[in-house]
Amino acid sequence: MSTSFNVQIAVPFEYEVTFTSDVFHPENPVLARALARREANKRHRAFFVIDEGVAHAWPKLSEQIEHYADHHAATLELEGAPVVVPGGEQVKNDPKHIEALHREIALRGLDRQSFAVIVGGGAVQDMAGFAAATAHRGVRVVRLPTTVLSQNDSGVGVKNGVNAFGLKNFVGTFAPPFAVLNDARFLETLERRDRIAGIAEAVKVSLIRDAAFFDWLATNATRLRTLDPEATRVMIERSAELHLRHIETGGDPFELGSARPLDFGHWSAHKLESLTAHRLRHGEAVAIGLALDTFVSVEVGLLSAATAERVHSVLREIGLPTFHPELEAVDKTGALKVLEGLREFQEHLGGELTVTLLSAPGRAVDWHDMDPALIARAIRTLKARDGTSEPSRAVSDLVSGAAE
Ligand SMILES: NC(=O)c1ccc[n+]([C@@H]2O[C@H](COP(=O)([O-])OP(=O)(O)OC[C@H]3O[C@@H](n4cnc5c(N)ncnc54)[C@H](O)[C@@H]3O)[C@@H](O)[C@H]2O)c1
Ligand SMILES: [Zn+2]
Repeated sequence: MSTSFNVQIAVPFEYEVTFTSDVFHPENPVLARALARREANKRHRAFFVIDEGVAHAWPKLSEQIEHYADHHAATLELEGAPVVVPGGEQVKNDPKHIEALHREIALRGLDRQSFAVIVGGGAVQDMAGFAAATAHRGVRVVRLPTTVLSQNDSGVGVKNGVNAFGLKNFVGTFAPPFAVLNDARFLETLERRDRIAGIAEAVKVSLIRDAAFFDWLATNATRLRTLDPEATRVMIERSAELHLRHIETGGDPFELGSARPLDFGHWSAHKLESLTAHRLRHGEAVAIGLALDTFVSVEVGLLSAATAERVHSVLREIGLPTFHPELEAVDKTGALKVLEGLREFQEHLGGELTVTLLSAPGRAVDWHDMDPALIARAIRTLKARDGTSEPSRAVSDLVSGAAE
């Protein structure tokens, strides 16, 4: 004898991603509007979490936030001074930062309708977003991403997480934000290296979803490498939009299946990040991972060699790396260490190993059979094209036939 009840729950989520400039200028309404979206006639309690790198680069930020709150006092009530947390990957590597934010949320008496406004790069967004999502089972989050990568990818999506046991993003939740406000001005103080690294995610999303955007990136590679503000703006907006449309229409926003196209190139990228003890930026590791899986796509017969060369040279022209010596590191048995990334990738998602490969720019293919010998060949191909920082080298290799 048994009894069962079928339960189906659909929970709609809705949030807006707004591109703006000078978000804390008192006359800029977008933050106040975002907070008041659901309850217009109420003072919304908010506390701010700020990335230390941002606080350092913008020393008047706390003061500006206070002025903003004064100006919008009918809508916004600051709940204490901002909390400054370390920037970069380190903040995802130590659980004490999560506990510290939980304590602040408890001590300030914030409730599920209060806001955590998170101002910072992808790492701070991931850690503070996780803390906010787990306090009271979720306080509202408004993200103000301050890096190229967090504005064009991580900050506009639905995931958060921190690292544990040497595994990237092992602890985390799916938690759509209440709103995302991308302020272009923050990028002015970002290190050149981070401004370039983040472009890798735009190349990634173009390769899996939009050939025309890949062509645009190819045409504008030099403008992007030289940090042209208009090219950067277009790149970020289009990349963010493609990420959002994928989440919205891809059919699996909370990644319940085994495929994860937005993580094209990421199985090796995540492994390279830990193999290099995070000396590589996430975006740099992604660029290498994209180059690798592009050449793996050639090895398995999906993609033409000429297209792979084009992808490689676009990455290089943007100023992104496409090889790292850790790709060749081997364990005691002589196996490539980076291959552990495949197992970790599969474990993270569950089910059959599913890696995204390419059949053309804009066309992603789910692939289940990653032959180590073919991956090793693709790594050799990347190595052969490395050894020069001249971005045009890959192209001249191709023309002269010197490349493998
Ligand atoms: N949740 C997701 O869906 C998702 C997606 C992609 C990447 N990520 C994660 O994002 C992280 C990488 O984020 P990132 O590339 O934004 O780098 P980051 O957060 O590591 O920041 C890089 C450095 O820039 C500093 N910084 C940030 N904004 C600044 C500014 N405006 N001016 C000066 N300095 C500033 C930070 O303090 C830090 O030192 C990784 O942990 C990655 O795993 C998450
Ligand atoms: Zn990424």
